[in-house]
Amino acid sequence: MLRKLWSWSVVFLALALAFTGCGNSGQGVGSHASAPVTAYQAMEFKQITGLQGFSEVLLQNHLKLYQGYVKNTNLLLQQLGGLLKDGKAGSVEYAELKRRLGFEFNGMKLHELYFANLAAGKSLNSRHPLANAIINNFGSTEMWQKDFIATGAMRGTGWVVCYLDPHSGRLINFWINEHEVNHPAGCAPLLVMDVWEHAYMLDYQLDRAQYMQAFFNNINWDEVAARYDRTVAAAHATPTPESPEKAANEPAAMPAEKPHAS
Ligand SMILES: [Fe+2]
Repeated sequence: MLRKLWSWSVVFLALALAFTGCGNSGQGVGSHASAPVTAYQAMEFKQITGLQGFSEVLLQNHLKLYQGYVKNTNLLLQQLGGLLKDGKAGSVEYAELKRRLGFEFNGMKLHELYFANLAAGKSLNSRHPLANAIINNFGSTEMWQKDFIATGAMRGTGWVVCYLDPHSGRLINFWINEHEVNHPAGCAPLLVMDVWEHAYMLDYQLDRAQYMQAFFNNINWDEVAARYDRTVAAAHATPTPESPEKAANEPAAMPAEKPHAS
């Protein structure tokens, strides 16, 4: 019985880590699960240098902004820890720093996902299961892209994230307000697009549509497909709330395959 409980615990932990993307920011959580936690480290994204449609000045400014989120996340965690030790967890200061943590932390993580899903010359293999999943969900890759672009064209400041709900096989393009509002629980981010003004105004002024075209010309589909594969693999090993025993022995419910994208 104890062994069974331990097995379930490991599976749940692995899935939680996979969905939150918490293995980024210079911390390999999987290999440090039993080690003392350390400060987050800003990651490097050398593959984005020289991307067509993105000036070097814009990219360097954007990376500096990302580094600020890493710094502020570490600072907030440190301050919150200090307040907790001092018995001030019920203070107004503690509550406001907690609210701020979601903004800075997600600002850090979303930028890492964004920069990592940018690279030149990495198209989606039409035979990859992700290509099938897109067609199964939207009818065609063109319709999925239309939905993604329309979401990105919404007025406001934030992100577009194509999320995979691993137990239903649903792909949904979500609008994320600022950094922390509207994330779907239990889903995995596959493709992340920054539509804050700093991501494009220097190069495209107010023409967000032209920026989004440049983004689509530089999607690192190898990375996006790898995120899909990791999520599906984790879901296959994880019980569903409805039928834990059944889920342990069967793959997660994915849509039936249809013809490949051309
Ligand atoms: Fe950004």
